[in-house]
Amino acid sequence: MSSILESNKALAVQVWQIAEVAGYLWERGWAERNGGNISVNVSEFMDELDKNRPALRTVALLATFKALAGHYFFVTGTGRRMRYVAKSPMENGSIIRLNDAGDAYDIIADNDIAPTSELPSHLSMHNYMRSVRGCDTKVVCHTHPTDLIALTHVKKFLQPGVLGRMLWSMIPETRIIVPRGVGIIPYEIPGTMDLATATIKELAKHDVVMWEKHGCLAVGEDIIETFDMIDTLSKSSQIYFYAKQAGEEPEGMTNEQLDGLVPVFGLPEVD
Ligand code: 13P
Ligand code: ZN
Repeated sequence: MSSILESNKALAVQVWQIAEVAGYLWERGWAERNGGNISVNVSEFMDELDKNRPALRTVALLATFKALAGHYFFVTGTGRRMRYVAKSPMENGSIIRLNDAGDAYDIIADNDIAPTSELPSHLSMHNYMRSVRGCDTKVVCHTHPTDLIALTHVKKFLQPGVLGRMLWSMIPETRIIVPRGVGIIPYEIPGTMDLATATIKELAKHDVVMWEKHGCLAVGEDIIETFDMIDTLSKSSQIYFYAKQAGEEPEGMTNEQLDGLVPVFGLPEVD
């Protein structure tokens, strides 16, 4: 069977945008070997022919994701390298279809490539965003930014709110581009439902969460936007490290300076 991207140009545009971002993750040094994973809800781009593609394999899920019943996702493959997703997305990822109960999925294109080990987290987030937050969030992007991970090794930043506040205070753009701030999740074993459950709690307040000693995860409507949020946070963390190297604990923007951005840019208030 020919690639789904050959017959479905709208889907091809989406998948090549994911490939573009996979390349950025590698270039940034955030994607060692198979580090990181991406999932995107592509249901709106599937035509009738694609929807009826036969299952290459059916896999039961560890949980039921009711809000995702009948939805389609592009998902990067487990063990696959972002630098290769960038060049050949359909050889390093696949399109999956959730069944009507939301408790199993079929791999339908192009190849039988097993989804990321973080699929429980990704689907939990897509499910949460649709059913609880009621937003049209289509993208979950997980990556391993060295500078941000380093900060999760520092005890004071594990206290709720401290890391996000510090990152906001390094440069005004961070308050503007990541308006809901950053959540922090105590260490959990990668790929587990415990990690997924802990992440969902933080998504009530944030679009970006840090997994202690592991990585970063962003949700959004657009894959480029999720990359931009992580990139901006990484920039903030670098400013923090450089300022510290210059001799002192960086002062950061004051609360007054940060609050001054809220009415001008129409930002949500800090809680
Ligand atoms: P996968 O190769 O299974 O996507 O795992 C990479 C990763 O970053 C796990 O958190
Ligand atoms: Zn990871």
